[in-house]
Amino acid sequence: MGKYCFPNDWGAATAAYQIEGGFAEDGKGESIWDSFSHAPGKIVDGNTGDIACDHYHRYKDDVKIMKELGLNTYRFSFAWTRILPDGTGFANQKGIDFYKRLVDELLCAGIVPNATIYHWDLPQKLQDKGGWVNRDIVGYFNDYANLLFREFGDAIPVWATINEPYAVFAGYTFPYFAPGIIDVKMGKQVIHHLLLAHGTTIKSFKELNIRKAQIGIVTDLWKSHPARDCDEDRDLARDMDERNFYIFLNPLYKGQYSDYIARVMEEENSLPDIKEGDMSIISAPFDYHGINCYSRHLVSHDSELSDVDRRMAADPGKFTSMKWEIYPAALYDAVKLIHDEFSASIPIYITENGGAFEDTLTDDGKAHDERRIELIRGYLKELHRAIGDGFNVKGYYLWSLMDNFEWASGFSKRFGMLYTDYGTQKRIWKDSAYFYKQLISDNGFID
Ligand code: GCO
Repeated sequence: MGKYCFPNDWGAATAAYQIEGGFAEDGKGESIWDSFSHAPGKIVDGNTGDIACDHYHRYKDDVKIMKELGLNTYRFSFAWTRILPDGTGFANQKGIDFYKRLVDELLCAGIVPNATIYHWDLPQKLQDKGGWVNRDIVGYFNDYANLLFREFGDAIPVWATINEPYAVFAGYTFPYFAPGIIDVKMGKQVIHHLLLAHGTTIKSFKELNIRKAQIGIVTDLWKSHPARDCDEDRDLARDMDERNFYIFLNPLYKGQYSDYIARVMEEENSLPDIKEGDMSIISAPFDYHGINCYSRHLVSHDSELSDVDRRMAADPGKFTSMKWEIYPAALYDAVKLIHDEFSASIPIYITENGGAFEDTLTDDGKAHDERRIELIRGYLKELHRAIGDGFNVKGYYLWSLMDNFEWASGFSKRFGMLYTDYGTQKRIWKDSAYFYKQLISDNGFID
């Protein structure tokens, strides 16, 4: 038995489209996730984020719960279409006011707001102009971010440009994410424009010289592991890592795509259009790195070894309901990789970690989610190990505050420490919420 003490802040994370609802209210414009979820057959059970957790109307009560939990910080995202319904041009005061009220509420509760500028909900009007494939997006994004900095720069001390650029790219390469375009070449151009939008915005932010505020980016980092100790599988793992995260990290920190990925893009005829000066904009230094990490990938040329369904059938206790392997060392590995290979100096935030389970309410209205508690403890022990090894981890955010709209899976996957009853919009504390409250108050746990 030992006590695990932590130096970092404790938070919970959400994103606008996943919790807000109010999809067409107070002048909000349509986003690609509105149109994607409204199209038949895209989301499990035909779910949409039209109402979601109705946070747009319930934010005050939600902040009250955050305060009861003792959260030090709360990570949320702005809906671009609430601020600029068409993505550019006319600014919607009612949308700005919503976030002013939310941020005020947080500050009054002593909770530090951590704001993400873009969590995937691109204005449909901009998608109609080509979305992330059109280079003009860089200017639109920068204008939108500057508006936020002007309106909220004094109140919000932690900013992220983009959440998981990989998932934005996925929307142009795979069918399951908005806008649902499948085009390998477009996908790579999207990656380049995401990076460019990020770097341009970092530069704008720095020029504003906002006192005490910091800005970074959030990337997902799940390493791939070879199932067998052989070159074939090792090469496959390396290939996955290159495509999943080095394709972002190398430009961000080193100002270049790796030779490997450049060769891949050449071979698949997907080299993006890169203009002179782009790479130096992209590699503008930022203040912290946000990591979203839930698991690892196990890969192999022998598909029986890597097949998730088979692995899950053999050991169901090791997987969440997303079919993600519970592999706590993934968190240690992610922190170490960023620190060792890219950025020994800037702080790291775990901006997302957690798990989805088949949570149900018992007759007495409780939700006993021991598996989530066990998962959190496991990952936090690995975080503790990382901190012990000297890695500079400043914050941990649990995904998520409450069950919410899990993208293509709709409401079928529950990640929250609060159970959302979608019929009544009641938030019910799961056992993990009580556990997290205690953990925050003790700044650690005994195991
Ligand atoms: C993500 C997102 C979240 C997800 C969460 C669980 O990064 O994928 O930030 O929106 O809901 O990760 O899948």
